[in-house]
Amino acid sequence: MNILVTGGAGFIGSHTLIELYAAGHTAVVIDNLSNSNPVALKRVAEIIGIKNIPFYKVDIRDREGLEKVFEEHQFDACIHFAGLKAVGESVEKPWEYYDNNIGGTLTLLDVMRKHGCKNIIFSSSATVYGDPAEIPITENCPKGQCTNPYGWTKSMLEQVLMDMQKADPEWNVVLLRYFNPVGAHPSGRIGENPNGIPNNLMPYITQVAVGKRKELGVFGNDYDTPDGTGVRDYIHVVDLADAHVCALKALERKCGLGIFNVGTGHGYSVLDMVKVFIRVNRVDVPYSIKPRRAGDIATCYCNPSKAESELGWKAKYGIEEMVRDSWNWQRQNPEGYNEE
Ligand code: NAD
Ligand code: UFG
Repeated sequence: MNILVTGGAGFIGSHTLIELYAAGHTAVVIDNLSNSNPVALKRVAEIIGIKNIPFYKVDIRDREGLEKVFEEHQFDACIHFAGLKAVGESVEKPWEYYDNNIGGTLTLLDVMRKHGCKNIIFSSSATVYGDPAEIPITENCPKGQCTNPYGWTKSMLEQVLMDMQKADPEWNVVLLRYFNPVGAHPSGRIGENPNGIPNNLMPYITQVAVGKRKELGVFGNDYDTPDGTGVRDYIHVVDLADAHVCALKALERKCGLGIFNVGTGHGYSVLDMVKVFIRVNRVDVPYSIKPRRAGDIATCYCNPSKAESELGWKAKYGIEEMVRDSWNWQRQNPEGYNEE
C-alpha cells in the first residue's frame, strides 16, 4: 500500500516508516517540523536503504498544501500521527491545541474524502480513559474525564472519526490507543528527541544518565501502588510501530471501525524503571522524591488481548530491551538530532 504518514518525522512516525517499508509498503511524509528534525527522515532512509523518504513540509491545517500532496500521489491509507502532545503546554495554550489537533485533523479528513482516501489509522492515547474505571483497561472500559486539553483533543477526535465512519461506511477507521511508548530503534540512529526539558519519564532518565540533567524528580511516592510511585504500561516504540502495520491489514480487510489498546499489559512503577535502567545499562541515575504532578493517576495498564486476537499483534519486547534501546540512542546522540 502507499501510505500518507502525517507527523512522520516525529518519534513514533519515524519508527513506523521503517516497519512500513520492511512490510513492503511505501510512504509519503507530511510534517510541519514543529516538533521534529528532518535529520530523522534522512536516517530512516539510511536504515531502510533507500535514497530518501518522499517528504513535504506541510501543516495539516494548510488545505492547499494538502491538496497539492493528494494531487501528486494516490494513497491507499493515512496513518495520522501529526499533533501536539505536551500535556502541560496544552493547559497553558488550549486554543493552540484545539486548533492544531482538531482543526488540522478536520482539514485532513476533508481533503482525504475529497480524494477518495477513506482509510485511516489514528494515534489515540490511553489518556482517553481518564482515571480508568477498571485495571487492566480493556477497550470496553468507558472513556473518562480528561485532565487536560491535549487529552480532550484525542477523545473528541475519536468521536469525530467514529461518527464519520458511521455516516459513511466506506470509511475504515482504526483508533490505536497507545500506552507509554519508550525505547528506540536498536541501531541507535533514531529515537525520542524532545525539545527542552523532557515531560516524560524515559527521556528524563536518559538525560540524567548522560549528564545533561542533575537528577530525576520522582513525582510522588504516596500513590496506592506497590512502591507508592506511578505505574504505567511502557511499550517499545518498535512494537508500537509494528501495530500500525497490523492495523493496515485490518483496513485492507475493510474492518469498518476498530478500537485497540496498544500496550504490553504489564505495569511498571517509576522506581522499577529507574532500577531496571541502572541494572541493564550500568549507569547511575540519581533521583529524589518530589510532590505529585497535577493530573497524574496512580495506575494505568491495559489488557492488550483484543489487538492480538483481531489484529494478530502482540508486543515482542520487554522492559530490558526498552531501557537498553533508549540508552543506546541517548548515548550515541547526547544532543539528539541537533548534532547533525
Ligand atoms: P512527535 O511530536 O514526536 O511527533 C508528532 C509530529 O507531528 C512531529 O514531527 C510534529 O512536527 C508533527 N506535527 C505537529 N503538528 C503538526 C501539524 N499541524 N502539521 C503537520 N505536522 C505536525 O510525537 P510522537 O510521540 O511521535 O506522537 C505521535 C502521535 O502519537 C501524536 O498524535 C501523539 O499525540 C500520539 N501519542 C503519543 C504518545 C507518546 O507518549 N509519545 C502517547 C499517546 C499518543
Ligand atoms: N514521572 C516522574 N518524573 C518525571 C516524569 C514522569 O516521576 O520527570 C512519572 C509520572 O508521574 C508518571 C510516570 O512517570 O507516574 C509516567 O509519566 P510520563 O509523563 O512519562 O507519562 P504519562 O503516563 O503521564 O503520559 C504519557 C503521555 C500522554 C499519554 C499517556 C498515555 O505523556 O500524552 O502517556 O499514553 F496520553
